[in-house]
Amino acid sequence: MSVTILGIESSCDDTSASVIRDGVMLSNVIAGQVVHEAYGGVVPELASRAHQQNIIPVVSEAIKRAGIDKSELSAVAFTRGPGLMGSLLVGTSFAKGLALSLGIPMIEVNHLQAHVLAHFIKETPEDEHSPSFPFLCLLVSGGNSQIIKVNAYDDMEVIGQTIDDAAGEAFDKCAKVMGLGYPGGPVVNRLANEGDPKAFAFSKPHIPGYDYSFSGLKTSFLYTLRDRLREDPDFIEKNKRDLCASLQATVIDILMNKLRKAVKDLRIKEVAVAGGVSANSGLRDAFLDHAERYGWKVYIPKFSFTTDNAAMVAITGYYKYMDKDFCPIDAAPFSRVVI
Ligand code: KG4
Repeated sequence: MSVTILGIESSCDDTSASVIRDGVMLSNVIAGQVVHEAYGGVVPELASRAHQQNIIPVVSEAIKRAGIDKSELSAVAFTRGPGLMGSLLVGTSFAKGLALSLGIPMIEVNHLQAHVLAHFIKETPEDEHSPSFPFLCLLVSGGNSQIIKVNAYDDMEVIGQTIDDAAGEAFDKCAKVMGLGYPGGPVVNRLANEGDPKAFAFSKPHIPGYDYSFSGLKTSFLYTLRDRLREDPDFIEKNKRDLCASLQATVIDILMNKLRKAVKDLRIKEVAVAGGVSANSGLRDAFLDHAERYGWKVYIPKFSFTTDNAAMVAITGYYKYMDKDFCPIDAAPFSRVVI
């Protein structure tokens, strides 16, 4: 009998639903929320209200595009956390209602674990591009920067993580002070492609082990702007391409330095990248370059699986279903946790 999982993702500002049957994706519907643009960041209360409006049409559309009837669902997987409490509540409550009404089990999914397992989503039954265990995964998003040793679908060890800002935050905050809008990552990436990565030198952290730090880079970026704006009020406008290119190169350098150290120490050359920042073209190029230079076998997700999506929740749900790892109906969302 085939296993058909509905995944629901509502941890931040994207409402998404996906159907996966026997590991193969049948649909993946994502509704973004433009309402936050005017505020320069996600407004939690507005996010949860938008999720409430989106959740039924998004789930209906995912079931329709999958070409199935909801009675064929084996289980409902939902993001339980980490994320914004109000947003998570919408997905969690909807999953409970649907599971109860269909008489099927519920599966709780950790958002970070789901980002890693996005590498196992198959778009066709023949798709065979997943990493083998154990592999290292660089998880880089707006809220996290971690190096994870992935031993199995359900066995992950965080061996390094940021002690302050995340890589995505470094992009977003520096973009914000340059007046480039939110989220800043994609804009910085676009401008960086036209700039000189060596034009400016920003500070890099010196912390032991595999942990990251991005707050020093952010401060050094701000000081550069402050000093140069005193001399020339148009400094940002004239130099934004070079500023973005230098910022991006520094973030990538910090990320890859620690990852190289982990690969060397742990002698694991299967290396994946996941999370919103893995959409960055410079970071993707750095992975390909390391594959060539150091013989790494690298796994870079499709763009549609880098940012928040429910297909990664559904695939995690699929593996948990195979282990009969269900959750009680009174499962409450959680806002913060590490895997
Ligand atoms: O994983 P994600 O969608 O959301 C969570 O944090 O959960 O990641 C969003 C982050 C934002 O900081 C955004 O600026 C960054 O990913 N991002 C990028 C790019 N696309 C998205 N950063 C750099 N370059 C990009 N092309």
